[in-house]
Amino acid sequence: MRGIFAALIFVTGLFTPIALLWSADAWVAMLPAGDGQQETKELCTGCHNLQKVVQSRKTPQEWERSVNDMLARGAQIFPDEAEKITKYLSASFPPGK
Ligand code: HEC
Repeated sequence: MRGIFAALIFVTGLFTPIALLWSADAWVAMLPAGDGQQETKELCTGCHNLQKVVQSRKTPQEWERSVNDMLARGAQIFPDEAEKITKYLSASFPPGK
């Protein structure tokens, strides 16, 4: 009986990180191709996964505000990269799409 519990705990410990990794990748995979995709993948995944990003629908002004908000929270992003990401997100995730 104890052996079964030990095995269960072992297997859970083994698969939890894999499941978490996979889910982070799954959101990245939902980014459409385009100019800025690479920057978004590299610069917007450091603090959280992209679930909130790919599920958001925002106007260009709202995306700009969000990206500025991330900068204020400490995102290390150059202004030209931030502009590229804002344009990419505005085109990829506009309201009503
Ligand atoms: C320095 C860490 C950090 C980086 C880098 C970062 N974020 Fe965030 N982000 C946060 C925190 C903290 C929150 C608020 C907590 C939460 O909702 O998980 C957040 C929340 C969000 C949200 C939900 C709130 C909203 O405004 O709709 C979106 C969307 C978002 N981030 C997009 C981005 C994008 C796009 C990038 C890349 C430009 C990015 N984040 C990079 C820290 C960061």
